[in-house]
Order: sequence, then C-alpha cells, then structure tokens
Amino acid sequence: MKIAVILGTRPEIIKMSPVIRECERRNLDYFILHTGQHYSYNLDSIFFGDLELPAAKYNLDVGSGTHGEETGKMLIGIEQKLKEEKPTVVLVEGDTNTVLAGTLAASKLHIAVGHVEAGLRSYDRAMPEEINRILADHASDYLFAPTERAKANLLREGLPQDKIFVTGNTIVDAVIQNLAIAKRKVGVLNTLGLERGGYFIITAHRQENVDIEERLRSIFEGLELVYKEFHLPIIYPIHPRTTKRIAEFGLEIPEGVDLIEPQGFLEFLVLEANAKLVLTDSGGVQEETSILKVPCVTLRDNTERPETIEVGGNVLVGVNRTFILDGVKSQLSKERNWQNPFGDGNAGSKIVKLLM
Ligand code: UD1
Ligand code: UDP
Repeated sequence: MKIAVILGTRPEIIKMSPVIRECERRNLDYFILHTGQHYSYNLDSIFFGDLELPAAKYNLDVGSGTHGEETGKMLIGIEQKLKEEKPTVVLVEGDTNTVLAGTLAASKLHIAVGHVEAGLRSYDRAMPEEINRILADHASDYLFAPTERAKANLLREGLPQDKIFVTGNTIVDAVIQNLAIAKRKVGVLNTLGLERGGYFIITAHRQENVDIEERLRSIFEGLELVYKEFHLPIIYPIHPRTTKRIAEFGLEIPEGVDLIEPQGFLEFLVLEANAKLVLTDSGGVQEETSILKVPCVTLRDNTERPETIEVGGNVLVGVNRTFILDGVKSQLSKERNWQNPFGDGNAGSKIVKLLM
C-alpha cells in the first residue's frame, strides 16, 4: 500500500500530523504532497517544525488566488504527481480548496480517496468550506467521520454505511500529543505579559466574516464591549486574510485588542489552554476549546461542529456586538465540566489501521 497525504493549509497540517506520525511509526510507504495553498512561514513551515513532521516530497506552490484559480492550479499539479507516483490511496483532511482538488484529481484517476473529518455539515452553502466538504465526501471511498452525528449526516445523504468509519477527530490526538510538550517548552504567556485566566483570545479569518466590512466592524464593536466590561487584554493572532481586510476597510483596532502574528501550534495551544475564554470563527478552535475545557464563543450564524454546543463548551452568537458580549457572559457563568465529544485521541492510528 502506498499512501499520498495531500495537504495545503495550517489546519490540515495540524490535523494530518497524527496520521503522518502513524505512517512513520509503522514505516509505511507514504509521501506528503503539499499544494502550497498556505505558504507564509507562520501558516505553513512553522507547523512542520512544531509537529516534527518530515518535509513534503512535493510542493506545488499554487499560492493564493480566487477559488477557481487556486483549485484549478492544484488540480493540474496533483493529477500530474499522482500519475507519476501511482499511490493506492489518497488521504485528504477537512474542507479547504486543497481537499476538493485532491479528491477530484484522485477520484478521476480511479485512486481510492480517504476523507478525514468526513460528514461535517453547516447546511450553509454560502460557505466555500461547505461546498468543498460535500463534494469531497461524495467522491470519497473511505469516510472517516469524527462523531456519530457526522456519520448520521452522511447516511442521510445516501452514502453507504460500509464506507463510513467513526474514528474520532485527529485534533484530539494532536492536542494530547503536543500539550504537555507545549507547556514545558513555551514561555509565550511571559513574553506577552499575560496571566493565566487573565486574558481573552480571538481568532477570526473566515471569508463570510472578514471579507464583509459590516461584519468585521461589528466583531470589532463586540470586542470593544467585552473590553469595557472585563478590562482584560484581548489577544488576536491575526490571519493574513484579516490583516488585508482591516487595511482595505480602514478599520481601527479597538482599545484592549492586541494584534499579534499568527502563532505556532505550541504557543497557540498554551494561549488557548490558559485563556479566560476564546472567541472564534475557526472550526479547529471550536474543537480545541471543547477538548481543553475552555469556554468558547463562536462568531458565526451556524456551525458544522454542533457537538461543541451540545456539550456546553461553545455558543453561537453571530457578529452582533450585544450578542457577542452576552455570549461571553453566559459562557463564563458555566461550569467547565463538559465531556470532549471528539474521541479518545487515537483517531490517527485508527485511520491508518482501517486503511491497512
Ligand atoms: C483557507 C480555507 C479555510 C481555512 C483557512 C485556514 C478554503 C476555501 N479556505 O482560508 O477554510 O479555515 O484556510 O487558515 O480553502 N495568505 C497569506 N499567506 C498564506 C496564505 C494566505 O498571506 O500563506 C493570504 C493571501 O492574501 C490570501 C488570503 O490570505 O489571498 C487567503 O488565503 P486562502 O488560502 O485563499 O484562504 P484562507 O482564508 O487562508
Ligand atoms: N492555530 C495556530 N496558531 C494561530 C491560530 C490558530 O496554530 O495563531 C491553530 C489552531 O490551534 C487550530 C488551527 O490553527 O488547530 C485552526 O486553523 P484555522 O483557524 O486557520 O482554520 P479552520 O480550523 O477554521 O479551518
């Protein structure tokens, strides 16, 4: 068996790391094909270092562009490499343009595709990620669903039971494998002058939020209210998409909000684990806060991770400033005694075992 691991963005590198580690441990014949969708050091190489991953065998260097440009360039490059390498199976993770391109290229070459994190649904087709995950699921041969709910979503769409395997989410593996190392290694709280439980973290980078001036403004107004209420620093590791939009819209950074560079995985884990609360529109961050038992407020109108809300770790508030403040208050009033809904931290090894 020869495995091609296709990835291209920050969350894919992080969530594929347990699968890659398992391939290494078993000494399997595999290679990493990086599309180059993310290429800045702090969205890409830093994670290969932090997670001690081998370098990608290929990097297509597609860079940024419109959805069509990015996906089209990837499709051409991936097809060529798959034809040369002839893997038995291609693995993709999540819902990015890289996932769509990898799945399409492989399935048309009649190469089996395994979709890690299959079956998530926001039921909001305005999100590029929703289109990508639906198409990837329907063109895949092995659907590695993180939860029973994700499996039920797939069955409802007519996907056959014998293609679906509930494995847990590999983010649990990644958090468990790295949190202890992170806590020992990283002095990020000291560097930023932060105290445990004495600050908020925000990440917001999704197209449907930050590309719309009104919505990004409204998020900033919400942060202003949170600062006025709590007088605690709000640390914002900022994604380059958001940096661009702030400049374009001429937005002022609200009082109390501290913009910092995107963080490495170890630093970010420490920041999350010690935060009073996290505000986010990220998928991975909703999961990690659930795992770390840190309250989360999600700045979106829907989520493909409803398990985080059901257990009580997360609440959906959209971008209305009053709702943001109310969400923060209500999450802070809860006990942090929920159960992690994403499995036992062995998803990576389960996935590789199933493939074998
Ligand atoms: C992509 C994913 C999104 C995921 C996010 C993870 C799609 C459709 N979107 O969004 O689901 O949540 O990655 O972070 O696949 N840029 C850089 N350096 C980089 C990469 C991007 O500066 O290394 C800037 C460029 O200006 C680029 C913009 O960020 O135009 C957006 O990048 P892109 O990869 O298209 O989408 P993301 O917003 O990163
Ligand atoms: N992350 C990170 N540094 C940061 C912000 C996020 O390492 O400054 C990690 C975070 O721990 C999570 C992943 O990036 O595992 C989430 O990626 P992102 O929010 O970019 O994408 P999404 O999950 O929304 O697709």
